[in-house]
Amino acid sequence: CKASTLCYWNPYWMLPSDVCGVNCFWEAALRYSLKAQPEEKMHLAVVACGERLEETMTMLKSALIFSIKPLQFHIFAEDQLQDSFKARLDSWSFLQTFNYTLYPITFPSENAAEWKKLFKPCASQRLFLPLILKEVDSLLYVDTDILFLRPIDDIWSLLKKFNSTQIAAMAPEHEEPRIGWYNRFARHPYYGKTGVNSGVMLMNMTRMRRKYFKNDMTTVRLQWGDILMPLLKKYKLNITWGDQDLLNIMFSHNPESLFVFPCQWNYRPDHCIYGSNCQEAEEEGVFILHGSRGVYHDDKQPAFRALYEALRSCSFEDDSVRSLLKPLELELQKTVHTYCGKIYKIFMKQLTKSIRDRYDRPPKKR
Ligand SMILES: *[C@@H]1O[C@H](CO)[C@@H](O)[C@H](O)[C@H]1NC(C)=O
Ligand SMILES: *[C@@H]1O[C@H](CO)[C@@H](O)[C@H](O)[C@H]1NC(C)=O
Ligand SMILES: *[C@@H]1O[C@H](CO)[C@@H](O)[C@H](O)[C@H]1NC(C)=O
Ligand SMILES: *[C@@H]1O[C@H](CO)[C@@H](O)[C@H](O)[C@H]1NC(C)=O
Repeated sequence: CKASTLCYWNPYWMLPSDVCGVNCFWEAALRYSLKAQPEEKMHLAVVACGERLEETMTMLKSALIFSIKPLQFHIFAEDQLQDSFKARLDSWSFLQTFNYTLYPITFPSENAAEWKKLFKPCASQRLFLPLILKEVDSLLYVDTDILFLRPIDDIWSLLKKFNSTQIAAMAPEHEEPRIGWYNRFARHPYYGKTGVNSGVMLMNMTRMRRKYFKNDMTTVRLQWGDILMPLLKKYKLNITWGDQDLLNIMFSHNPESLFVFPCQWNYRPDHCIYGSNCQEAEEEGVFILHGSRGVYHDDKQPAFRALYEALRSCSFEDDSVRSLLKPLELELQKTVHTYCGKIYKIFMKQLTKSIRDRYDRPPKKR
């Protein structure tokens, strides 16, 4: 008999002939009795301001195409983007694999006035997510210029790998200190050798809300909600990249709280524009693409742009996803005059596997 995991996706009268019905019976019975609570959802948050609608929708689409467990989107958007987000997301409601909530850009209600004076709201929204989404246990925060080339389930499962002191996970800002920014220019503390990049940030917010953080302002440890303002006041003249710098300062004082994942989970132009320096991606492929430096929208890194365009123009139809690979590979082959294009196979590797897995897996309920 073949593995009974196939049962999950098939009503029993449509089971492949080599799967034993009896296995499915027991699998279903166990699942029913063990699962008193509903299936765990994965929570994804993004903050969209300015001209980021299309880019954000493409990110969300890439999340939906490959992911397996249901998703809950938390979308923080400027007022003028709210209606367009609603219309676009409602047009996807046939998928039944996600729900979403739209929020205005906000500060937590306590001290909102004081925070408004200090923080640029769009740039700092993500720092407040643990305080705003009080009911949510864990969250994946991503920038709008992220593309998932692999199911979110896989990065989500890293939450279970956290040891008892870890509360969040990010990738290093650089692999190569000679071109690193923080180690050459920062005028504030930062995490590790080259700092961390906050464009893909996995958080156990239950733990973030509970933790008392060491800091260089008082000898007393402070909670998340109490540390942000003094931190900003102290460092506001010295920070360059806004909230990412504050996160670096925070985790430099509390390094035991950070889980560092490898660069293929947050692959940026910096990993290839001067030559390839993300070894994990060379071996296993790129898992999450991060088009920082605006590379999806100009011609400086055509390999990144080709990936963005391929996902932007594909639909949820099986054929559309399946037939994305060939033209994409041809596009990427036109980019081999660039350092990133030279190693274009690393962009195809995981994507090809994800698409294959999606079709080995019987289709989701639509
Ligand atoms: C979305 O929300 C509706 C209504 O609350 C619920 O019935 C449905 O199961 C949810 N879907 C997912 C994928 O969470
Ligand atoms: C800010 O940068 C200046 C110049 O490098 C430095 O002297 C100062 O100590 C820094 N401030 C803080 C709070 O680290
Ligand atoms: C987050 O941490 C809390 C407290 O340690 C724990 O109960 C919860 O299961 C964790 N969430 C996940 C998704 O691992
Ligand atoms: C958890 O892992 C971090 C990073 O490797 C480490 O600094 C910390 O000491 C670990 N915590 C425990 C309780 O082992």
